Amino acid sequence: MPVSRRKILQQIGVGAAVGAALPALRGFALNSTGEGTRESFVRADQPARLATAADPVLLYRNENPYGPSEKVLGVLRESVAGGNRYPRTEYDTLIGKLAVLHNVKPEQIVLGCGSGEILGMAALSFLKPGKKLVQAAPTFPSLGKFAQAAGVEVVSIPLNKRYEHDLWAMLDAARAATGLVYIVNPNNPTGTITPRTDIEAFIGKLPSDVTVLIDEAYHHFVAPNTAYESFLDRHFADPRVIVSRTFSKIYGLAGMRIGYAVATPEIAKRLPAGFPNWSVSVVSARAASAALDDVDYVRLGIKRNTDDRQEFMNQVNARMLRAIDSQANFVMVNPMRPPDEVIEHLKKNHILIGPKYPVLDKYIRVSLGTPAEMPAFWRAWDLMPATDKMAM
Ligand SMILES: Cc1ncc(COP(=O)(O)O)c(C=O)c1O
Repeated sequence: MPVSRRKILQQIGVGAAVGAALPALRGFALNSTGEGTRESFVRADQPARLATAADPVLLYRNENPYGPSEKVLGVLRESVAGGNRYPRTEYDTLIGKLAVLHNVKPEQIVLGCGSGEILGMAALSFLKPGKKLVQAAPTFPSLGKFAQAAGVEVVSIPLNKRYEHDLWAMLDAARAATGLVYIVNPNNPTGTITPRTDIEAFIGKLPSDVTVLIDEAYHHFVAPNTAYESFLDRHFADPRVIVSRTFSKIYGLAGMRIGYAVATPEIAKRLPAGFPNWSVSVVSARAASAALDDVDYVRLGIKRNTDDRQEFMNQVNARMLRAIDSQANFVMVNPMRPPDEVIEHLKKNHILIGPKYPVLDKYIRVSLGTPAEMPAFWRAWDLMPATDKMAM
């Protein structure tokens, strides 16, 4: 006899009751009619974990929930002992590896304390009152915040219906008095891509004094056979293009704060002006070098993310929810109920998800956790009272 969804949820319960129910939960899923199925709710090799006040499940900052590789962890531990010295050879080593990886000259690379610092450098170099920033809405907000703090006008153009950058509207906005255009590809918070060919055509039409920053923080998570192509994997011969990348995502080093930009030697020289040229720690630089060497771990990270994203979508579909097709390590979901309530409900259950986005105000953003973490998310989700989905 089928067990009703509500009954199952009551049986599962929260808090202490969840602990007792965990063994039974392994391999358990709810299908779209609310009946229990024995599918891939938790992978057999991953014991599910609890979300507690002291140890919440963090699905809010698009971090790599698996952390860095064992090899990188080893280098991190070793490098701490050298923390009494300022950087000496570490930057050159890392820049040399990045230059080989991207087939550019070392003088084309700028390191930053996270790619967030690169965004700050770009703001300081290319924006000033009278030279505005053009970006998408919604997109990663840091560059816009730097610009606003400097009294610079920010023009935010809504994504198009496919959640791509609306490049033609951005072009109109950038025709006059523009210092910088910011393109995040894949975009945060939507996880969507803007086709390479469209970006190329867009750049070709921009006024010659406008610089373009392409933020490829989530590059590694894009599924093959999409219209996406990195501007580092295949260079685009236009000196106005800067590409930023980070070690915070696929390499699992968000807390180590390290990222970089690739640009022409002239721009690379100009970018760090006004910033300390030693903001990357010795430990971070050495860890980043080791992470670049550990190509198997990068492959594993891509595979894990692909599987985790698919499993997330299976759970979304089982609940008849809607989600934006993501090419990143997070997904925007229409929860069919007010996002504020969902964020609050999950928080009470010690699950932290992304903030609300005014431009996509019916959606929430969920970063993908490990197979051991996600059951806690879905358990908390299923505790929410049913809604009238037709009304949303
Ligand atoms: C699109 C994008 N760019 C840049 C960053 C900044 O990353 P970090 O400073 O950790 O390199 C983030 C962080 O989430 C991001 O989503």
